[in-house]
Amino acid sequence: MYFHVLTLFPEMIMDGLNTSILGRAMEKGCIRAEAVNIRDYTLDKHQKVDDYTYGGGAGMLMQAQPVYDCVRAVLNRIEQEKKSRVIYVTPQGRVFNQQMAKELAGEDDLIFLCGHYEGIDERVLEEVVTDYVSIGDYVLTGGELPAMVMIDAIARLVPGVLNNDESAMTDSFGNGLLEYPQYSRPRVWRDKEVPPVLLNGNHKLIEQWRLEKSLERTKERRPDLYEKWRAENDCCK
Ligand code: ADE
Repeated sequence: MYFHVLTLFPEMIMDGLNTSILGRAMEKGCIRAEAVNIRDYTLDKHQKVDDYTYGGGAGMLMQAQPVYDCVRAVLNRIEQEKKSRVIYVTPQGRVFNQQMAKELAGEDDLIFLCGHYEGIDERVLEEVVTDYVSIGDYVLTGGELPAMVMIDAIARLVPGVLNNDESAMTDSFGNGLLEYPQYSRPRVWRDKEVPPVLLNGNHKLIEQWRLEKSLERTKERRPDLYEKWRAENDCCK
């Protein structure tokens, strides 16, 4: 999987992605990432990439030309027979979730287009964007953090990125439920004991207990997910 992030702040992307688990995955070659500076593609002699909006209103808009040329340059480099997806990160998009992360993890290349200021000229979006995706109903100052959030969620589903393949399966949302509570040493901490079922080595009982706790927790914290799970699992728990 190769992530291409088109941005005015490439160092923000690379500093973020080169760290921790994703940094290790890049060293191992499981994933690749590049940040492409949209400003490198402007034809303006002062390197300008933004301008006022027609019709008035506060703020500046990223102009069509540098964005279009940047996207085309990346597509020309990577595109073989399969069309690559170009994701515009915007609060006006479909809200990202684990299901979308799974679906996108199957792609060879993903292009993320990060807007800034008041956004990007609509005409270039119409030309190049295949998916409009948001990370939630709030507004951030730019698309870089949302792109990194999505890349993190997608990358950890790519084989080899996590050390223990199982951990992506048992995570919250792996089975449509929130994850059960977990405990480590010591067995007693501030008079709180680890649940005894986890100490007896009976894996069937442990599995049952974990499912019960997942269901309890999901019902309490995310009743919407709980109802969905119940409907899909056709069960009366
Ligand atoms: N850009 C600004 N806010 C955003 C959000 N919530 N999701 C995606 N992109 C954004």
